[in-house]
Amino acid sequence: MGFPRDRPRRLRRTEPLRRLIRETQIEVADLIYPLFITHGRRTREAITSMPGCCRLSIDELGGEVREIRDLGLPAVLLFGIPERKDEVGSGAYDPRGVVQEAIRAIKAEVKDLLVITDVCLCEYTSHGHCGVIQEGEIDNDASLGLLAQMALTHAQAGADMVAPSDMMDGRVGAIRRVLDEHHLSQIPIMSYAAKYASGFYGPFREAADSAPQFGDRRSYQMDPSNGREALREVRMDIEEGADIVMVKPALAYLDIIWQVRQSFDLPVAAYNVSGEYSMVKAAAGNGWIDGSRVMLEILTAIKRAGADLILTYFAKEAAELLS
Ligand code: PBG
Repeated sequence: MGFPRDRPRRLRRTEPLRRLIRETQIEVADLIYPLFITHGRRTREAITSMPGCCRLSIDELGGEVREIRDLGLPAVLLFGIPERKDEVGSGAYDPRGVVQEAIRAIKAEVKDLLVITDVCLCEYTSHGHCGVIQEGEIDNDASLGLLAQMALTHAQAGADMVAPSDMMDGRVGAIRRVLDEHHLSQIPIMSYAAKYASGFYGPFREAADSAPQFGDRRSYQMDPSNGREALREVRMDIEEGADIVMVKPALAYLDIIWQVRQSFDLPVAAYNVSGEYSMVKAAAGNGWIDGSRVMLEILTAIKRAGADLILTYFAKEAAELLS
């Protein structure tokens, strides 16, 4: 046993051999592309901290979603940037809100692309928090009805799936009940189940204009130090009716993805977040790393850790490389 009889290098000698024994393969069908939809018209604003990503107004969506569909990507995830924000995030559950209208526009343009919507108040509230505020604190239970209403208006506008990212306790159950009461029991919920209070969301807050105006998100998003708590969050979301559970961010949390995969039998999603994207773009832009190579290595690692699907700003680029 062992060397010199055993030589692992035998199976690495040529590319066909390596291909034959490859354990993990990223597929275009695994990837979901996030889109930022802004109010107004004829708007295509580059997001400086996320090279290659834009905020698009609804009238600019047609070409974009056809391109995404033609690349073979199965789904988009929508975020909205409303014209006006207020204390209770009214734009979030307005049946004529920016995301609700974007869903209708996308569905009119392409039939064979899944439209998933992010359900969270932070892009719509003047204070930038993910729930409503009562006496200086985020009021969990008062936020649930608004989040459920938001999910309902998305589904009624034609969304194929809703993805709550707010981290209020009980929101998956609240959303499931309201959808079911409105004969929308066929609409799945992908819950951001283990979502950490992360510095990796920095560029997103520029993209979605959703930085909290006071304090931070640590009273509702998870402490990066905790692993067991992630399993508890995931278990609760599954009991409340989640169909897919997500871990976010991905790269610094591969151990969490792995544990969730080992502990539960639902599909597991991982969110390869804005900061993870921007770091690669910045280093590649400086010539310090090979951007495409590092991108594929990262996506492969997330899948190897146990993710079935990956939400990533790299989706279009990866799809081009893989096909
Ligand atoms: C909304 C939300 C955030 C992200 C997804 N949904 C921001 C946050 O929680 O601060 C982050 C996505 C990214 O960084 O790419 N709550």
